[in-house]
Amino acid sequence: MQEPPLGTVCEAMSGGTRALPIGMFCGRMSLPEIQMPPGPGGAYRGPVISYQWRGDFASAEVEALQADGFGRAPADHDWKAQVERHSLGWVCARSGAELAGFVNVAWDGGVHAFILDTVVARPLRRHGVGTRLVKVAAREARADGCEWLHVDFEDHLGPFYFGCCGFQPTNAGLIRLDDPA
Ligand SMILES: CC(C)(COP(=O)(O)OP(=O)(O)OC[C@H]1O[C@@H](n2cnc3c(N)ncnc32)[C@H](O)[C@@H]1OP(=O)(O)O)[C@@H](O)C(=O)NCCC(=O)NCCS
Repeated sequence: MQEPPLGTVCEAMSGGTRALPIGMFCGRMSLPEIQMPPGPGGAYRGPVISYQWRGDFASAEVEALQADGFGRAPADHDWKAQVERHSLGWVCARSGAELAGFVNVAWDGGVHAFILDTVVARPLRRHGVGTRLVKVAAREARADGCEWLHVDFEDHLGPFYFGCCGFQPTNAGLIRLDDPA
């Protein structure tokens, strides 16, 4: 299927083993509806998730997702100031008014962008929301002139980043700067 044009994306969340049949855009732009083949019985399940590049959010709702996703206590972190000052952009996924997922796209000011802080709300995981977040981030970074999108992650997330999000394995390095050793 052809990749849809840029903008706010709304689509039904995948349910079970098949993708749900309707993907469409909403928001300020008037964009065509994308029809996909109906699934067995034509039944549509799951909430509609919207994905918005540089979408509005409250720092507390991102912090709540991050704290839960990365197993730490919530802190008083100003995510809005951080990403507005330092990032190329970010993607907010919403299920209705609720923040369903978030990804931060850091930037070197040139052609390199970096995926950070990818997180999906626990009850909505394993339905394709994380994959869609990263794909929207990649598309928008490309549209903004970036040539490379980087990510690093723990081994167990290989099936997600390599298998679903389109990243290729490469050599990379990391120094833990807050390690006194
Ligand atoms: C990682 C994360 C963002 C994935 O979001 P998601 O919406 O569940 O991902 P998707 O539904 O798009 O996953 C697509 C595929 O990726 C793989 N995958 C997703 N999460 C995985 C996990 N935790 N472990 C191993 N493989 C995983 C699976 O192959 C999955 O397909 P399947 O559900 O048919 O098996 C989510 O689990 C999360 O928020 N985790 C906590 C925070 C975190 O670790 N973030 C990553 C920082 S690098």
